[in-house]
Amino acid sequence: MDINLAKERIAFLCEEIERHNLLYYENDAPEISDAEYDALFRELQQLENQFPELIRPDSPTARVGGRPLGKFSQVAHRVPMLSLDNAFSVDDIMEFDKRIRRELGLADQAEITYICEPKMDGVAVELVYENGILVQGSTRGDGVTGEEITANLKTIRDIPLRLKTDSPPQLLEVRGEVYLPLEPFRRFNLEREENGEPPFANPRNAAAGSLRQLDPKITARRPLTICSYAPGTVQGYVFGSQNAFLATIMAWGLPVNPLARPVTGIAGISDFHEEMAALRDTLPYEIDGVVVKVDDFALQRELGEKSRSSKWAIAWKFPPRQAVTVVEDIIPSVGRTGVITPTANLRPVEVSGVTVSRATLHNWEEMARKDIRIGDTVLIERAGDVIPAVVRVLTEKRTGSERLLPLPAACPECGSLVVKIPDEVAVRCLGLTCPAQIRESIIHFASRHAMDIDGLGEKYIDQLLRLGLVHDVADLYQLTAADLMRFERMGDKLAENLLGAIAASKNRELATFIFALGIRHVGEHTAKLLAAGFGSLSSRMAASAGELLTIREVGPQVARSITAFFAGEENRRVIERLLAAGVSPTTAAKRVGGRFTGKTFVFTGALERFSRSEAQKMVEAEGGHAAGSVSKKTDYVIAGAEAGSKLEKARQLGVAVLTEEEFLQMMEGKEP
Ligand code: IVH
Repeated sequence: MDINLAKERIAFLCEEIERHNLLYYENDAPEISDAEYDALFRELQQLENQFPELIRPDSPTARVGGRPLGKFSQVAHRVPMLSLDNAFSVDDIMEFDKRIRRELGLADQAEITYICEPKMDGVAVELVYENGILVQGSTRGDGVTGEEITANLKTIRDIPLRLKTDSPPQLLEVRGEVYLPLEPFRRFNLEREENGEPPFANPRNAAAGSLRQLDPKITARRPLTICSYAPGTVQGYVFGSQNAFLATIMAWGLPVNPLARPVTGIAGISDFHEEMAALRDTLPYEIDGVVVKVDDFALQRELGEKSRSSKWAIAWKFPPRQAVTVVEDIIPSVGRTGVITPTANLRPVEVSGVTVSRATLHNWEEMARKDIRIGDTVLIERAGDVIPAVVRVLTEKRTGSERLLPLPAACPECGSLVVKIPDEVAVRCLGLTCPAQIRESIIHFASRHAMDIDGLGEKYIDQLLRLGLVHDVADLYQLTAADLMRFERMGDKLAENLLGAIAASKNRELATFIFALGIRHVGEHTAKLLAAGFGSLSSRMAASAGELLTIREVGPQVARSITAFFAGEENRRVIERLLAAGVSPTTAAKRVGGRFTGKTFVFTGALERFSRSEAQKMVEAEGGHAAGSVSKKTDYVIAGAEAGSKLEKARQLGVAVLTEEEFLQMMEGKEP
């Protein structure tokens, strides 16, 4: 291909791929299949290989990670990245406010406008945009020089490679915190354990470790995200305040924390701190305090800097989520996939308002790596509502009476053989009928994110198992009121509610059902991908590992695990019995008995009232089907302006043709 043509094609592909990324990741409404997307992506990669000089700095291929580096190079920050002074009480804040008013020469009554932001617990980075293009990214380092990690930062999907504005500043340096939200952190740690890698003690360490990878392909697989919070050097644009800065960069596509807000004086700061302390345990990410900044940039400049921190900002820290306690015992427990996990029973200790008495030790290898023994004094850390982890042993506190817990030879629950599978750190119970595994799989099946059987918690599941009423999840749908009346403290009403909740779970979405099955490596996210990729349970069950791999984000390990699950005789039987009992997973947007059930629609031409994917969703929500081409089976063609051959064909076949207006009327129940 001629270089000019290649340049044009690359520009087209970059834009098209970014557009599809947006549709896929942000709007959840892909317009093309994964295979079509992959074809575009591969074409771009090939062109970039052929013409390396044409690689654009905002090329979406950077998102998957390029060549590994030998080592990081150093970059000097144009403006030093300072740290923050700490406050621990409202008295410290009063001191801070008093000093600011004194330095600004303000009268006692004058109140300052501050902006309060959650203090994100991650890794500080700097992004450099030249004329709107991300050209460099670095770590904070010692504040003066950091490490250049541009390729790694480009793999973070939330970081725009190009600012969303037609008139970007010539230079914009943005500082922010790269972090790992709690749910991805939990998933990521589980995956590491399954792969035999040591899990991270907290999301901050995980984020730091992920950013410092010399191979950006590794960083690309870590679910990192960013929150931007401060400008560095800016040329070609003037921000008047922190509040205006945050609003503007947000409009340009940089993520900022939506909880940040301007407040007045000490009272405003106190309220914000109190609110965040109350929210802390419910946020999907870790915060370790509140950052208070003078909002007005002119006042910030007037106040200036000290050697290591700015005079106009302070961090009001929350109590740390670490504590020292003693491991009283270590108990092996069996999970739903048979993995035996050591859990530490701790001398109860309070960690920022919550009493902690257990910590996960992950697996034997990890326990050995940290050399954790019964009787040890340990430092533990709690991140959000994630099960606390042991950070390290305080070996200086050892007395010599501490004991190691040996690897069990038999399952602590059923006595079956325990094996260590090659390539895995986990030790696993092989007992097919291990009661602990069955118990855990039923708990998972009924849980809120799975089939959401309201009221069916551990307590009832234990009774069902003890009475021999249930041996697997399919048995749940055979229960009768008489069965439940055998429970301790069970009444008619309660039994009726429970049966109602079980019945109500029959029509969950396909993705939910797949997740509920508890297939190894298939979390909620993967279950959604699988459901979207196959559309029906039967096609899903029949899919080969190769077909699974065509689904974006499904790797070989996951594909193997899924095929193995559906190949299992016992698993197939349970699924058949579930279906026979009336469990009927629905596909996401489909509604049985909708207005358009059984009807096929084709949209063509330039649509003005809705996009094609919106139209598709509307049709599916009413039980209909949106097709790409017109045939005898088409019921309606909706033609926008300049409709061409499809309209022609519809006329030939005598298919009803509607305008957008008429389609919308039909949506509202009027006859076209
Ligand atoms: S502003 C002079 N805002 O806290 C202002 N920092 O202890 C410099 N951090 O290195 C930083 N959330 O990594 C700022 N909303 C926020 C922040 C924040 C977290 C981190 C940042 C900084 C450290 C200082």
